Parts: sequence; structure tokens; C-alpha cells
Amino acid sequence: MNIEQNKQLKPYNTFGISVCTKFFAEVQTEYELLELQQCSEYRDNSVLVLGGGSNILFTRDFEGLVLRNALPGISIVHETENEVLVKVAAGEVWHRFVLWTIERNFGGIENLSLIPGLVGAAPMQNIGAYGVEIKDVFEELEAVHRKTGEKQKFGLKDCEFGYRESVFKNKLKEEFIITSVTLRLAKISSPKTNYRFKTDYGDIKNTLAEMQVFDLTVKAVSDAVIKIRTSKLPDPAQLGNAGSFFKNPVVTKQRFDELVLRYPVMPSYLQADGTVKIPAGWLIEQCGWKGKVIGNTGAHAKQALVLVNYGNATGAEVKNLALEIRQSVKEKFGIEIQPEVNIV
Ligand code: FAD
Ligand code: EPU
Repeated sequence: MNIEQNKQLKPYNTFGISVCTKFFAEVQTEYELLELQQCSEYRDNSVLVLGGGSNILFTRDFEGLVLRNALPGISIVHETENEVLVKVAAGEVWHRFVLWTIERNFGGIENLSLIPGLVGAAPMQNIGAYGVEIKDVFEELEAVHRKTGEKQKFGLKDCEFGYRESVFKNKLKEEFIITSVTLRLAKISSPKTNYRFKTDYGDIKNTLAEMQVFDLTVKAVSDAVIKIRTSKLPDPAQLGNAGSFFKNPVVTKQRFDELVLRYPVMPSYLQADGTVKIPAGWLIEQCGWKGKVIGNTGAHAKQALVLVNYGNATGAEVKNLALEIRQSVKEKFGIEIQPEVNIV
């Protein structure tokens, strides 16, 4: 087992923060994972499981072992006339997997195109975009217990998915290493498939019209989502970031009615349970942060919810900016916004 020491993590996090980890190991097979779990560097240190590093902010060197999960493989494990169950290993790149499903005309995750990161992290925060969350197509996942090495299966209910939440961020935080995810996808080409594309969210319909798409396909919806995303989200390869830094806050209907009296143009999304979600990007913009540059960091000019690294930011600088933003939103609106990004 190759365990590197004092490894620079800048290429392994999309914020592009320069920190080192004491130990670093990449696992390519489940056997290697079990082997690593026997090593003293693993057993005697805190362990951070890392995928694509696109939802993480490092604020200091990591005094433990970073386990980069690179398990490969995609396979169809069950098939009916209308559906497929596809099992994907945790180390596959999420967007490459989405493209794999599109090539085969499988429906279900086209709205989740271009989300950075690896498959293993996708259920961690129940990734979502444009009206779809991974929970909508989720069948099960396999995970290895960090201490015992035992493998366990988790079904939909076990994962306790919520908005950017799962059991793995809460009750079972840092207990398991996700090794594979199985999704239930629709065979669009089957005449009996009654698949409904989700195009109601945001600009999807307008973008499809601009693209002169008249017959919906998984490819067309994916292309539309990619077009919208690239028009407002910064590409981490050009400008360090981790997507939305905060979650959109959810308030009671009563609280929203009070707020909207004071801020009549406040955008909102009514939830199925009667609560109201408010875009944090709007709240942050109203506090004057959009496009503002503070030292090496700032809130992006096209999407205030995305904090960026203009080159040499430290994690502490980004964290301080986030704290200031959070405080100003609290002072102006009385709402506490919570980070979506994992701060280490
Ligand atoms: P990492 O950042 O490596 O890890 C995230 C967390 O999961 C960490 O706590 C890590 O310890 C844990 N983890 C990772 N892999 C495993 C594993 N195998 N087992 C156990 N724990 C693990 N997210 C959305 O939901 N929707 C979006 O639209 C979206 N857009 C984005 C746009 C941009 C430009 C960027 C940079 C990010 C965006 N994100 C979005 C956030 C991010 O892409 C997702 O959260 C993604 O799932 C993170 O994957 P990762 O492999 O990079 O995870
Ligand atoms: N808005 C502003 N100013 C801004 C940004 C947004 O006023 O600077 C307002 C606008 O009214 C806009 C609304 O906020 O209509 C929503 O903005 P957007 O469509 O960009 O979506 P979001 O709520 O900011 C969420 C997710 C994204 C996901 C998109 C599309 C969260 C925290 N973020 O962003 O996920 O891609 O919707 O579904 O839920 C991520 O999780 O990292 C992420 C990028």
C-alpha cells in the first residue's frame, strides 16, 4: 500500500486552497481499501475521505490521513423492459457517469449534469439541481465501516435524505466509506416507458426554446442544463470555488409572510410541506456582497452564493468572509444561513 507523506492538497480541492496532509493514500480497489484499514497510518489517525474535493474548504493542514476514493466501474445489474439498475463505483467522476447514461438514453439524472465531484460523495449531501435530487433515482448504496471494515447496504429510507442532507452527514457522520451507488433509471427508448422530463425549474424551458429543441431527449435536457450552469457558475479550473457556499434557508410560511411585507420582491419557493425556501444568493446580494472582492476572496459577480478564491486565498480567509456574510444576512433579515460546504 503506497502511503505518501506531507502531500500538497491544492490539486485535490476545487477551492484551490494550499494545505498539506500528513498522510495520503489513493485506493483503486476494495481490496486496497481493506489493506489500508490495517495500516497504522489509517488506524492511529483521523481519516478524511476525499472525492473530487468540490464541496470542501480546508482551513489548515490536515494532521491525519486523506483517503482518496478512486474505485472504478459502472455496470448494469438489473434490467426490465422499462428500467435499468446501474451500479457505479464511488470513484467514478459524476458528470462522466451522467454522460454514460445519456449515451445509452437512460433517463433520470440529466438535470444533474455538470455537477463536479465523484459518485461516492453524491449521496452524502443528496446532490440536487434543476428540480431533481439523487434521492429521486436512488436504489441503494454500499459502504464500508471505517473501523470494522464491514460492508453494509443502505436503502432509500436508511439514507434519510433531505435537502442537501443524509444520514451520513448526521447520525452516521464519519462512520462509513461509500464504495458504490446503485440508481434506478428509465429506458427512454422503450415504448412502454412513461418517462416525464423535468423541465419546469428555472430557465430550462426558455433555454430549450432558444436551442430550438422541440422533441425532448435526455441529451437536449442535459445540454440545456449545461448551458445554464456555464452561464453563471464559475469553472473551478479557472476560479477556485465549491459551488453554493451556503444552503438556501427554509422558513415557516408565517415567517415568510412577515418578511415579504418588508421585502415585497423577495424570491421564494413554496415547499411540499408548506415551508418556504428563500434563495440565499438573493439575501447575500441584498446585503451588498455580490461581486465584492475582499483580499484574495469574494462573492462571485454572477452568483453571490458562490464564494471564490482569486488565486492565493487561504481557507481561513474564505471562512472569515463566509462568517461576515452570514452575520450581515442575520442582521438584515434575521435569518441564519448554514454552510453547505464541509469546513475542515
Ligand atoms: P468532496 O468534496 O471530496 O467530499 C464532500 C464530502 O463528502 C466530504 O465530507 C467527504 O469527506 C465526503 N465524502 C466524499 N466521498 C465519500 C465517500 N466515498 N464516502 C464517504 N464520504 C465521502 N452540489 C449540488 O448538490 N448541486 C449542484 O448543482 C452543485 N453545483 C456545484 C458547482 C460547482 C462549480 C462546484 C465546485 C460544486 C457544486 N456542487 C453542487 C457541490 C459538489 O459538486 C457536490 O457536493 C459533490 O457531490 C461533491 O463531490 P466530491 O467528490 O467533490 O466531494
Ligand atoms: N439570486 C439572486 N442573486 C444571486 C444569485 C441568486 O438574486 O446572486 C436569486 C435569483 O432570484 C435566482 C434565485 O436566487 O432566481 C435562484 O438562483 P439559482 O437558480 O442560481 O439557484 P440557487 O438557489 O442559488 C441552487 C443550488 C445549486 C443548484 C441550483 C439549480 C443550493 C444551495 N444551491 O442554487 O446547487 O445548482 O439551485 O438547481 O441549493 C450547490 O449545491 O453547490 C449548487 C450550485
